Amino acid sequence: MSKKTDTTRRAVVGATVGVGLGLGAISMLFPIGALKPKKLETPETEPPKDGDVFVFAEGDKKGSEVTFDDLPKGGPAVLVFPKDPKTGVVKSGERNNLILLIRLDPGELSPETAEYAADGTVAYSAICTHLGCTVSEWVPDEGVLLCPCHKGIYDPRKGAEVIGGPPPRPLPALPLGVEGNQPVCAGGFTSPVGVVAGLEPQGGSCAV
Ligand code: FES
Repeated sequence: MSKKTDTTRRAVVGATVGVGLGLGAISMLFPIGALKPKKLETPETEPPKDGDVFVFAEGDKKGSEVTFDDLPKGGPAVLVFPKDPKTGVVKSGERNNLILLIRLDPGELSPETAEYAADGTVAYSAICTHLGCTVSEWVPDEGVLLCPCHKGIYDPRKGAEVIGGPPPRPLPALPLGVEGNQPVCAGGFTSPVGVVAGLEPQGGSCAV
């Protein structure tokens, strides 16, 4: 681990200054969702696809469509679900559809991250790749994503690479496009969502 990364990790873990994104309860309720048997797909559970818009997953604006004006530059991240704009169906019936939207300075994004971004906004799966908790906290000083279960830390500027804690791989990215003043989905997740068999820790649990 580089000196900078180590410093970041210590600062984040030591200070525990993460800001909850409002879905802490969900993170505890579904610790290893990705390991459950696959459910029958319905319009509410189908994965995000091209052209889907996003709606707030919780809070005062729950169910409202997200515009760029709703996303403060530099964070925090916002938890959203995709919505089919043609049918109006919100795809909240599948927890793996929970997504983090974060608006950042485009100049801070790595080249690979910039390919998936729209107006500096990036989208990632909110399901931790360690044991499947919700990545529900934002660390304002560092501008990083924090999973509260075991303090997994992801850098949204660098493809959500893991910079601290036990997650074995980055959060999957969701390519974005622009429609009017809204970020929209421009493809599927770049890798499997959640826990991948063979990469999960042996005998692990998501107890906090
Ligand atoms: S489930 Fe996220 S760090 Fe363990």
